[in-house]
Amino acid sequence: MTTTLITNIGELTTNVAGSDPLGTLHDAAVLIEGDRIVWVGPASAGPAVAAAGQVDAVVDAGGRAVIPGFVDSHTHLVFGGDRADEFEARMTGTPYAAGGIRRTVAATRAATDQELRARLAAFVAELHGQGTTTFEIKTGYGLTVADEERLARLAAEVTPEVTFLGAHVVPAEFAERRGDYVELVCGAMLRACAPHSRWIDVFCERGAFTPDESRRILAAGAVHGLQPRVHGNQLGPGEGVRLAVGLGAASVDHCTYLSDEDVAALAGSDTVATLLPGVEFSTRQPYPDARRLIDAGVTVALASDCNPGSSFTSSMPLMIALAVREMGMTPAEAVWAATAGGARALRRDDVGALAPGMRADMVLLDAPTRVHLAYRPGVPLVHTVWAGGATV
Ligand code: NIG
Ligand code: FE
Repeated sequence: MTTTLITNIGELTTNVAGSDPLGTLHDAAVLIEGDRIVWVGPASAGPAVAAAGQVDAVVDAGGRAVIPGFVDSHTHLVFGGDRADEFEARMTGTPYAAGGIRRTVAATRAATDQELRARLAAFVAELHGQGTTTFEIKTGYGLTVADEERLARLAAEVTPEVTFLGAHVVPAEFAERRGDYVELVCGAMLRACAPHSRWIDVFCERGAFTPDESRRILAAGAVHGLQPRVHGNQLGPGEGVRLAVGLGAASVDHCTYLSDEDVAALAGSDTVATLLPGVEFSTRQPYPDARRLIDAGVTVALASDCNPGSSFTSSMPLMIALAVREMGMTPAEAVWAATAGGARALRRDDVGALAPGMRADMVLLDAPTRVHLAYRPGVPLVHTVWAGGATV
């Protein structure tokens, strides 16, 4: 097992609450053994630690900042084609609508497994390069039994966090028989996808699925052991948030249009509000009010929602910059939400923080503090990324 000491860390964000909520340490060091962190402490103790164990490598962080690897709890990364033309039209005034999903469905059905696998590999490299070490991937661009099954299977090759999203939109061929499509999702499609999936999600929104349909689909998923998550309150007010809270969903994502009742329901629950500011950036919608949620006591996560329609970016540093600049979050809150918050949204207790026993997923920034992620927007600040103890 390889042992690596990373020392001379100017600012270490552990996310183990101590003197501050992010458990910030200065002049710190971290010892990694295999895929786990085994020790965190002052850099001055590093040489003794190194002498006591057999340390294979010492990395000098040069006084720079280290944070936990980003946890991107919401992506749609298995798809064919793109929709740059739709984005361009949107920037001249055409509004975003859920129906664009059907174009990506057509392109995805036309793509071979090999094409989708190669694209996925490129996305994984893109995520790692930007400091993301844990990521969820949804199906939802297949919408036939065979296509959803292959998207779930391909996603499972690169992450354990696979979400079955057969209820993304009603496909064109079922436009006049939506009841039959809901049946298919709850039956044969779910049976085919469940073996590759951990989660089930529904796009509960006008133009996609009603609250009743959503409830039915999530209940069917539960029978197959899939835990619920919900896309809700993205394009307008609705019942998505209350549906998610009522079912004890791990997360309800988007949360752009919330009533006071929605906020109160979230505050009294274990359901994380996952905010996806790449969507508002790319669709010219108003940003969700993170300040209101945090002040009410809601747990907030940030994720990219990387998909070819509403948010074609996988950059968690961009999400942090937008959350700070546009959504009322402090830099510390945004970094927490993009790491520990994402881990909560995926109900993972082995990622999102740096402490003995946790996975050695961490990012050395080419900056002295985590604040630089928001302070220097658009600048590539990721210097070195460890995923499961290995540099990627
Ligand atoms: O999360 N809201 C539903 N699904 C995606 C959009 C997908 C698309 O437009 O292709 C989202 O924003
Ligand atoms: Fe999404």
